[in-house]
Amino acid sequence: VAAAMAAERALAVVTCTAPVNIAVIKYWGKRDTDLILPINSSLSVTLHQDQLKTTTTAAASRDFTEDRLWLNGKEADVGHPRVQACLREGECPLPGGVPTDPPVSPDPAVPTVRRLARKRRGGSEDAAALSLSYKIHVASENNFPTAAGLASSAAGYACLVSALARLYGVEDELSEVARRGSGSACRSMLGGFVQWQRGERPDGTDSLALQVAPETHWPELRVLVLVVSGEKKPVGSTAGMQTSVETSPLLKHRAEVVVPERLAQMIRHIRERDFEAFGQLAMRDSNQFHATCLDTFPPIFYLTDLSRHIITLIHRYNAHHGHTKVAYTFDAGPNAVIFTLADTVAEFVEVVRQSFPPATNGDQFVRGLPVGSAVLSQELLAAVLTEPVPDAVQYILHTQPGPGPQLVDDPSRHLLGADGLPRSRA
Ligand code: DP6
Repeated sequence: VAAAMAAERALAVVTCTAPVNIAVIKYWGKRDTDLILPINSSLSVTLHQDQLKTTTTAAASRDFTEDRLWLNGKEADVGHPRVQACLREGECPLPGGVPTDPPVSPDPAVPTVRRLARKRRGGSEDAAALSLSYKIHVASENNFPTAAGLASSAAGYACLVSALARLYGVEDELSEVARRGSGSACRSMLGGFVQWQRGERPDGTDSLALQVAPETHWPELRVLVLVVSGEKKPVGSTAGMQTSVETSPLLKHRAEVVVPERLAQMIRHIRERDFEAFGQLAMRDSNQFHATCLDTFPPIFYLTDLSRHIITLIHRYNAHHGHTKVAYTFDAGPNAVIFTLADTVAEFVEVVRQSFPPATNGDQFVRGLPVGSAVLSQELLAAVLTEPVPDAVQYILHTQPGPGPQLVDDPSRHLLGADGLPRSRA
């Protein structure tokens, strides 16, 4: 027993999972690039982890000689400034002596998981608590292809912060830490419908994620992710939004005037489960975000011919039905995320299948939650279908709103073995 306890103390391990989120009021632009403070509030829907999730195991041991990180089985740079922004402790030299330029938050008031852990212990080192001087190993993987361009950084940083927080026994201010990894990551710290409040303070202490409604609030709401391409996005969000802040007068107007009004409206539509109003505002906000990209100089293009094809298809579909039954939103990549209600999924999926017929993987075209079959009326076909574009959509992932990060109890699901190294993957 004593030996087992010693072994247990020698290696503390925690595994968490965290969700992807999709914004319906978009975040685009920072007022502080180091602290990751946005120019406007944003609002997102957390997607269910049964379909899309990141799993992260964090382990600490006095036997580890350096902090190490593995992403999808491959060792990665633990000195990455944004990883350090979540992890780092006060005056400690960076693990492995990796210099970052500019230095990460020299201000010890800015929280990282290790700083929160020290603060919580009142500065005194509790013998029973995990030593903050121990080095850590972290392994993280997604249950979806990273190349599919699904918001993996939000789930990734939310998961890193959740696992580290559990490891160190920290509970508060976590969205503030996740925000430093990637702005949108702070919204993945909560389930359901989540607002990232812009905040006013220069130190970012009020730039936090808040839950608008839990995932159980709107049981009929469904999400269809149309995965259209494995290509990497042309301009990353971080660089893209900075150019937008510097050059787009439309973005300034959006942040100052449009978003404050829309945010209040969107919260109301969600509270009232008003799909038409919710969907219309989500589409308008996606379109305005892409308009600010075009207003950026030089302009940024995330929408493709295929995105425009999908947009047109959805407007025709809604026009045919005489009201908004499906709504699209697009981020900094070509995938389309579609919102609809459960009773519309089968028909709309059939419309997508006929518009973008899959050639090879026909049986795997629809993934995730089950989708019933539907027969399309001649009127519907005539109203919405144009020339089919074969193979343009790789697959459709059917999912729904879901909860925030979860602790994984089952030790067989740890990504790190007893030696603290990644387990060989099946
Ligand atoms: C278009 O959160 O990826 O998806 O804070 O620089 O890491 P950084 O940017 P990131 O930007 C996401 C932008 C967006 C809109 C959104 O999710 O709100």
